[in-house]
Amino acid sequence: MNKEIVLSGIRPTGNLHLGNYFGAMKNFLRLQEEYKCFFFIADWHSLTTHPRPGDLSENVRKILVEYLACGLDTEKAAIYVQSDVKEVIELYLYLNMNAYLGELQRVTSFKEKARQQPDNINAGLLTYPTLMAADILIHRANKVPVGKDQEQNMEMTRKFARRFNTIYETDLFPEPESYTFPGETVKVPGLDGSGKMGKSEGNAIYLIDEPQDIRKKVMKAVTDSGPTVPNSDKPEVIENLFTILRAVSSQDTYTYFNDKYNACEIRYGDLKKQLAEDIIAFTSPIREKILDISANKDYMTKVAAEGAEKARESASATLKEVRKIIGFR
Ligand code: ADP
Ligand code: TRP
Repeated sequence: MNKEIVLSGIRPTGNLHLGNYFGAMKNFLRLQEEYKCFFFIADWHSLTTHPRPGDLSENVRKILVEYLACGLDTEKAAIYVQSDVKEVIELYLYLNMNAYLGELQRVTSFKEKARQQPDNINAGLLTYPTLMAADILIHRANKVPVGKDQEQNMEMTRKFARRFNTIYETDLFPEPESYTFPGETVKVPGLDGSGKMGKSEGNAIYLIDEPQDIRKKVMKAVTDSGPTVPNSDKPEVIENLFTILRAVSSQDTYTYFNDKYNACEIRYGDLKKQLAEDIIAFTSPIREKILDISANKDYMTKVAAEGAEKARESASATLKEVRKIIGFR
């Protein structure tokens, strides 16, 4: 067991799709075997953009169920909801005392959000990076698996950690590194010809999708008129189909269609049918688990309580140190 601590958070904005699975979850499953892991749902963060989130607890529950259905294991990792760990808020307050207006205003995602919601440029939005830093530093995490879009928030976290250590002459906080996975992490493309599968892109295949919906989505995938020269490069829309095929199908299936493509004999209809069935074969067991776990409310309550307890144990140990270091007795 590696001594380092891994932590990752996700905002509760909807169901998990194939991109989330192959881009993040698959790696979490491996990490929980090797490291002490914290996986949490960042429900406070969602208030920065949705002050009256009608379905917040439903969205939190959804992600929790899906995390478990994918195979995150409560025996191995602490799986919890951010708002169950009040210690985070106190650290957030201390970090905010040493976070400066100018540097927070310069964060790209703040500027973007401020443009998107000019009538709601709230302090939570401005201090999004300090809340994220508190999430990470409260467990003194070493590695944080995040996408490229979170890089600036990670830099802020490291800066706040260093600053705390300097101001209070301590080495309490390690500087957490953004963890990119050894080997390649698949970027799952959309089937609409776009570069990325995503919720906001509206092109996602969800783990919870019914087989007939998956078939419909895949059959609608954008293709071209087919290759005319043997062994030609694949245009992006076709490469996209093959990327997903590589993720969900067997090597033989992949090779079969790749050879057909190279020989200019490919029929995209056949490829799509196979792809749809292989996605369904991949997602069906997960989907069944989602339905099973969802039905078991007591189990869900127990999981959330246990996760919170583990997280609070680690969080309160850090907070105790922080209070002592700052000068509270
Ligand atoms: P979305 O783009 O659908 O809103 P999120 O931003 O909530 O997804 O993604 C959560 C995590 O899932 C990200 O950290 C990222 O690593 C991963 N992820 C999302 N979409 C993809 C994708 N298309 N390919 C690979 N990984 C992805
Ligand atoms: N900001 C992250 C996102 O939008 C979510 C998040 C909140 C997070 N706190 C975190 C991610 C701590 C990693 C660590 O995806």
